[in-house]
Amino acid sequence: MAAVMDTNVNNLLSAESLAEIDMWISKYPAEQKQSACMAALRIVQDANDGHLTDPLMEAVADYLEMPRISVYEVATFYSMYELTPVGKHKICICTNISCMLCGSDDVVSHFEKRLGISLGETTKDGRITLKEVECLGACVGAPMLQIDKNYYENLTPETIDAILDGLD
Ligand code: FES
Repeated sequence: MAAVMDTNVNNLLSAESLAEIDMWISKYPAEQKQSACMAALRIVQDANDGHLTDPLMEAVADYLEMPRISVYEVATFYSMYELTPVGKHKICICTNISCMLCGSDDVVSHFEKRLGISLGETTKDGRITLKEVECLGACVGAPMLQIDKNYYENLTPETIDAILDGLD
């Protein structure tokens, strides 16, 4: 096990990623390293252009001394983890109840029309991925979405156009 761990961890996870993961591990009791699993997956995903691979998930499992299947379970349960490549910017549109009642269907249609792609797709230039997500906990600002790490609320066609025009 130690040999497998060394190979996966040292080959696949950067020193910067490991240092950040170690910071999260330090927040929990020593025998509870697996509590840093979600943070570790986010760190590794960010360092890999926004998506996870099987070897990366296995390296996280080995580093946290967890069963690999447990890491797969976390990564496949939460919508913030991507198991296939995504665009430079990931636009996550909430279509849950509050946002739906406030017009998320129109938000989705506006994005699809402007970008020429449907939910779940990435623009041909690899710049933008459009994704449907469940409630992001900002219902008071419905309809809303998340782009990368930022929330945008009370969306209108005009604000959507301004958001898209402001993306690099
Ligand atoms: S329903 Fe959209 S943020 Fe809660």
